[in-house]
Amino acid sequence: MNMTYIIAVANQKGGVAKTTSAVSLGGSLALTGKDVLMIDLDAQADLTLAMGVTPSKSGGTIADVFFSSANLTGVTRETAIPGMDLIPSFNEMELAERFLPVRPNFEFILRDALKNHLPTNFYDYVILDCPPALGAITTNALQAAQMLIIPTQPEFFSAHALRNMMPIIRRVRNQGNPNMLYRILITMFDKRNRVHRNLSEQLNSTFREGVFQTVIGTDTKLREASIAGLPITHFNIKTRSAGQYQALAQEIIQYVQNPVTKSALLST
Ligand SMILES: Nc1ncnc2c1ncn2[C@@H]1O[C@H](COP(=O)(O)OP(=O)(O)OP(=O)(O)O)[C@@H](O)[C@H]1O
Ligand SMILES: [Mg+2]
Repeated sequence: MNMTYIIAVANQKGGVAKTTSAVSLGGSLALTGKDVLMIDLDAQADLTLAMGVTPSKSGGTIADVFFSSANLTGVTRETAIPGMDLIPSFNEMELAERFLPVRPNFEFILRDALKNHLPTNFYDYVILDCPPALGAITTNALQAAQMLIIPTQPEFFSAHALRNMMPIIRRVRNQGNPNMLYRILITMFDKRNRVHRNLSEQLNSTFREGVFQTVIGTDTKLREASIAGLPITHFNIKTRSAGQYQALAQEIIQYVQNPVTKSALLST
């Protein structure tokens, strides 16, 4: 691959496995030999913790990039996980939704920082973990990303909440990122649950290629992995969810490498 591919993981709905999917996908890509930069955009700093890093101001955080125009490379750290670097978050990011929108072109701070600060092709993938809101921070992530992953539980209210994502996707495409693709990722799927099966079918017939073929089942090991500060692939590769996230990584790698699929997907 000869270009850094930027993926945002976002959904306004809380607790749908955004952070879990970001770190598990990152771990899966790193296992295949890709160099991955993980960026925590959420003031809760869950991704930072899930990668075994204690949130702290010293050493710099993503807040410095948004508020003090810090260089991305200056706030990037190596982690204990080979192939994965991290820009951590800190609770200062809570201020972003209030203070960013007063600045002109605030939507493009992250896009421009990624473009101007990262050495060309230094990373194969950048993964952006968004907060559960569709404000200034998520808009920044979507303006920077080639692909948006929307983790969704196959529950009625989650499927319904997807509707809120469509206007922001349209706005981002109209205002600077016309080729941004989105893909829905069904998470916490329980195949014995009839509602889950029905809603998954509905999502597939409504969004078609806009839904990943890979589905992530429920797996309590994912919580244990995040407490241990490791991606599931590095915590216990033999778990079912580690296999599923590796399949997701393969789906994405193939998509990134295959321009035929790419043009077919521009409709979604
Ligand atoms: N496939 C899964 N099976 C079981 N539990 C899961 C699965 N995926 C995530 N979880 C658990 O669900 C909870 C919410 O996950 P996570 O923090 O990734 O969601 P989120 O969308 O990032 O939440 P927030 O909106 O607060 O940022 C966590 O406790 C996580 O361990
Ligand atoms: Mg999260």
